[in-house]
Amino acid sequence: MTDAVQTPHVGQTRFTPRVFSGIQPSGGLTLGNYLGALKRFVQKQDEGIETIYCLVDLHAITTWQDPEKLRQQTREAAAGFIAAGIDPTRSILFNQSQVSAHAELGWVFNCVARLGWMNRMTQFKDKAGKNAENVSLGLYAYPSLMAADILLYHATQVPVGEDQKQHVELTRDIAAKFNHDYKVDFFPLTEPVIQGVATRVMSLRDGSKKMSKSDPSDQSRINLTDDADTIAAKFRKAKTDAGVLPDLPEALADRPEARNLVNIYAALADQSVEEVLAEYAGRGFGAFKPALVDLAVAKLAPISTEMKRLMDDPAEIDRILGDGANRADAIAQPILAKTLEIVGMIRSRR
Ligand code: AMP
Ligand code: TRP
Repeated sequence: MTDAVQTPHVGQTRFTPRVFSGIQPSGGLTLGNYLGALKRFVQKQDEGIETIYCLVDLHAITTWQDPEKLRQQTREAAAGFIAAGIDPTRSILFNQSQVSAHAELGWVFNCVARLGWMNRMTQFKDKAGKNAENVSLGLYAYPSLMAADILLYHATQVPVGEDQKQHVELTRDIAAKFNHDYKVDFFPLTEPVIQGVATRVMSLRDGSKKMSKSDPSDQSRINLTDDADTIAAKFRKAKTDAGVLPDLPEALADRPEARNLVNIYAALADQSVEEVLAEYAGRGFGAFKPALVDLAVAKLAPISTEMKRLMDDPAEIDRILGDGANRADAIAQPILAKTLEIVGMIRSRR
């Protein structure tokens, strides 16, 4: 596949292509994470670009996490990455808190980002809701830590789902303001990579809501740990309408549940929506759902089986994350050191 994303450059500086992305271990991985993010992560790794993938545990604690569960979920997410095709010898795979430079650069960026910018973040508004006085300060500052995650590696490309686009744009704003305020060409203007037909997978119970690991209803999502029977039962019960599938994608515009299932099918089959409709136009969900179940089970059951196998050896997962953290740290430390020097900190420890 040719890569449509241009390497960004600021002024005279050219940055080597490097991919960074992260997923919060605040619950189990979902089909949304898989289609919107993980599949893309594997693709980038296989394009031969340097790829760095992070389980962002510091982001996860912006809402309270049970400590033992957080550790378990971090291991399980690591197992999910590997089972989905991330090779920890070709990519760097680690958990964020093992590289303390993330928090340090995050602080510097808290002093670069403006309150007005943070107040525009729609994810914060959604998550805080009517409860904004009572959520953590970390939840508010979260996008500035995300900018630090990315820029700590001078990453040029960030594969994410649609919901993260605004945060990557904020990352560019922070990089540009830093470069401007300190008269340097130090941080790249990172590009979001939002590709494919499933950049926003919706809940199986409500086509207007994103499929999410934090939705109280387990029926609303497919988890990467679900077995074949569970996957089948959830798709069978998924909300749909009484219509038949149309010939053209545009005819799905006001049928969010139907569109979601067609998008999921297309993404799992590596087909376009047009190709899926060419096969199923004129047929109802009585015919389409069983085909979707067969496809989903064929693609996802091997991942859940492999995850279970990997989870039998948590010490090996911890070793992989530790090794990844060492390699990440080796890239991050010089960039953090240079940043602190640029902003005027004395660096005299030997
Ligand atoms: P999170 O689970 O919020 O940490 O998200 C991790 C990655 O998965 C981000 O790149 C998200 O954009 C992506 N993602 C999460 N949920 C979905 C979804 N329902 N559809 C597509 N991508 C998603
Ligand atoms: N904010 C992202 C999410 O909730 C997770 C994340 C944190 C991330 N740091 C990142 C994604 C850096 C990409 C790059 O989905």
